[in-house]
Amino acid sequence: MAIERTFSIIKPDATERNLTGAINALIEKAGLRIVAQKRIRMTREQAETFYAVHKARPFFGELVDFMISAPVVVQVLEGENAVLKHRDVMGATDPSKAADGTIRKLHAKSIGENSVHGSDAAETAVIEIAQFFSGNEIVG
Ligand code: CMP
Repeated sequence: MAIERTFSIIKPDATERNLTGAINALIEKAGLRIVAQKRIRMTREQAETFYAVHKARPFFGELVDFMISAPVVVQVLEGENAVLKHRDVMGATDPSKAADGTIRKLHAKSIGENSVHGSDAAETAVIEIAQFFSGNEIVG
């Protein structure tokens, strides 16, 4: 299996509760390397672009408002099978359905305020990473 990259966001509900380190520890324990990371305040335009695929969903407005409500930490994670590995350590989108030991089971507040985002496929990761990082900010 080739080394792969995925895109990760530590969301406002987690940064507000000072959980960046706790979540990074779980990411690293899962065998992923954080090869880029920055704490930013997302603009409304950035959040709307990032979640454009969900534009028609009833929760879109709520999702965008939430993502700009406090700082987020955007990250690039690297490792073998990184997309799947990260999805495994995040757990299900709905924390009530997430497996024991996952980030969302341990820390998420609800399906909306679910602490973390991860790319759903390697192709999506390329697009998501490019929205927030230039090549020279990623150091593997
Ligand atoms: P994420 O992995 O960032 O991708 C889309 C996000 O939409 C998801 O995590 C949730 O935070 C959010 N989301 C999904 N379903 C719902 C829902 N039913 N109500 C509110 N937010 C949702």
